[in-house]
Amino acid sequence: MKCKKCGEKASVNMRQHKLALCKEHYLEWMPEQTERFIKKYEMFARHEKILVAVSGGKDSLGLWDILTRLGYHADGLYLGLGINGGINYSHESQRLTEKFANQHGLKLHIVDIEKEYGQPIPVLSEISHRGHGKPCAVCGLAKRHEMNRIARDLGYDVLATGHNLDDEAAVLFGNTLSWSADFLLRQSPVLASTGGLARKVKPLCRFYEREMTAYCLARGIEYIYEECPFAEGSQSIYYKELLNKLETDRPGAKLTFYLRFLEARKSGGLFVEKDSKQAHLHPCAKCGQPTSAPELCSFCRTIEKAKEVMPTVTPT
Ligand code: AMP
Ligand code: FES
Ligand code: ZN
Ligand code: ZN
Repeated sequence: MKCKKCGEKASVNMRQHKLALCKEHYLEWMPEQTERFIKKYEMFARHEKILVAVSGGKDSLGLWDILTRLGYHADGLYLGLGINGGINYSHESQRLTEKFANQHGLKLHIVDIEKEYGQPIPVLSEISHRGHGKPCAVCGLAKRHEMNRIARDLGYDVLATGHNLDDEAAVLFGNTLSWSADFLLRQSPVLASTGGLARKVKPLCRFYEREMTAYCLARGIEYIYEECPFAEGSQSIYYKELLNKLETDRPGAKLTFYLRFLEARKSGGLFVEKDSKQAHLHPCAKCGQPTSAPELCSFCRTIEKAKEVMPTVTPT
């Protein structure tokens, strides 16, 4: 496989885009694409101050790297959740986040939940009896709350998270299975600022998880490989696996699922009765059934086409 730009040996092959690139061109392509998405979804302008929520994983570290390379003013926020498990998850992810910030001379705010609120997330979860024995619900709540608080108190215009396409498609899939209309209508690459909260953006929402892994490896960014120990067996991991099976058989399916949703949402086509469409129907010139096509309905056009190819077809 050869790089589409220079013809050298490709190191990343993206079947979903029918695009293969060498390392050097891949490292150029990712920021270019990110800039395109920032503009397309009107995420933020050059003069705005961005707070990037950095977890020490590949997505958020990759995002921080890309935004600063693109010349944006982007500071980091790391939330110490107090989640340990076998690998000392929080400790290790904080170490890698601080290392990245130091290497690149970037400003990083660190907020430790235990110092701030007296207990780490797993204990807060136990005390509150929320989330059926798993701390993920309280953790999500605390992360959203703290990200909003710091962005507002420190005067940032925008809060950026590292959610990638796999994350977004899994959430979309879950909300579609349950037809959660409210959640569907709120899922977006940009959430406008409301009630004193900073605007929220997801600049990586169109990148596959494996594209982010490839970016960090090519760029030499050291990140935490392990997932949070509490994520095991979660619904979102199950949905990601299902979508990956689909993607293996049909490259691009995940991206199409997400992009078509965004289009439908933008055009107001979600959950709106389309009676108006009925008005544009008229009888097919051949069979008389209603159609929106100018002359023949799709079925009659198909039969006409078949006749052209095989003139001997006789009607039954
Ligand atoms: P998750 O909810 O773990 O899938 O993470 C989604 C995004 O939330 C990440 O890409 C980060 O931008 C942000 N995030 C998650 N955990 C942390 C953390 N401990 N500190 C700061 N940001 C985080
Ligand atoms: Fe919050 Fe796992 S419970 S990251
Ligand atoms: Zn190349
Ligand atoms: Zn609050």
